[in-house]
Amino acid sequence: MMQHHKISSSFDKEESIVVRQSDTLQELKFLPENTFKLIVSSPPYNIGKEYEKQVALEQYLEWQREIITELCRIVSDDGSIVWQVGNFVHDGEVFPLDIYFYPIFKALGMQLRNRIVWHFDHGLHASKRFSGRYEVLLWFTKTKNYTFNLDPVRVPSKYPGKLHYKGEKAGQPSGNPLGKNPSDYWTLICQEWEQGLIEIPNVKANHPEKTSHPCQFPIELIERCVLALTNEDDWVLDPFGGVGSSLIASIRHKRRGMVIDRENQYIELAKERIRAFQNGVLKIRPLGKPVHKPTGKEKVAQIPSAWIEQQQESLL
Ligand SMILES: C[S@@+](CC[C@H](N)C(=O)[O-])C[C@H]1O[C@@H](n2cnc3c(N)ncnc32)[C@H](O)[C@@H]1O
Repeated sequence: MMQHHKISSSFDKEESIVVRQSDTLQELKFLPENTFKLIVSSPPYNIGKEYEKQVALEQYLEWQREIITELCRIVSDDGSIVWQVGNFVHDGEVFPLDIYFYPIFKALGMQLRNRIVWHFDHGLHASKRFSGRYEVLLWFTKTKNYTFNLDPVRVPSKYPGKLHYKGEKAGQPSGNPLGKNPSDYWTLICQEWEQGLIEIPNVKANHPEKTSHPCQFPIELIERCVLALTNEDDWVLDPFGGVGSSLIASIRHKRRGMVIDRENQYIELAKERIRAFQNGVLKIRPLGKPVHKPTGKEKVAQIPSAWIEQQQESLL
């Protein structure tokens, strides 16, 4: 089974799992064209995280343009690139990165299929603007003939009992027994992940998937892309692979996976997580698990008594 294959340190089409420590731009030049069915990644946002050096926005975008040019060469003709981005913020001004990335992909002939909004309910609270609660996945394809499997990612319909009310099918269910299209607004994946920030102060120690990496993907986010945009045995690449979340999402569904990252500490963690997955001990939030809904009885859901007085005063 694909999941139990060895972890290789350089790309070979016959292998199944590749974890490569390297600079992405250097590495991409060695990868063969028309190879990867899905390239999915969250690049550094140039916001000064521990793994990046902040530079001027133009310089950052030029670096990314060089990388994306290589990615367009190595993605397969029926393949997709999914670029997951948030905002670059400078001196309090917000620069939504998807706006800057779109023309880069478009100039290279890529075609946008969806701009997916990944919404989450928790995070840092802004004081001089509204708090940011979503990021974006730009899904591009190389051609019009691309792989898209809707059935494996359908979600339960809100009204499965709805019937056709006229015509030949009157009285028959109008929906799809496998569920409905999940739409371009993805929220179910993130809420429990973020909930840890509220209910459990040390999310690193308590969330089932969290490692010491500051910005890792929930595996479920990438599983949806893998299931919809690839078939078994296809190659998936994450060129800023961090601790290997995309690779685990890929091999979990019998795809081949490669991640590239420059940092040794993340590469080692990625290998550990892959081994744990192969041994059946990696904790993964189950795909499609229903969203956690607070009952209102949790301590964190109660209004602090000191606030009640203040609120009453403000109403007078
Ligand atoms: C946003 S994180 C991606 C995390 C990943 N999605 C995960 O689930 O672990 C970006 C990653 O890019 C890596 N990185 C930054 N610059 C790089 C470069 N020039 N070459 C390779 N990796 C780089 C960082 O080490 C970091 O792990």
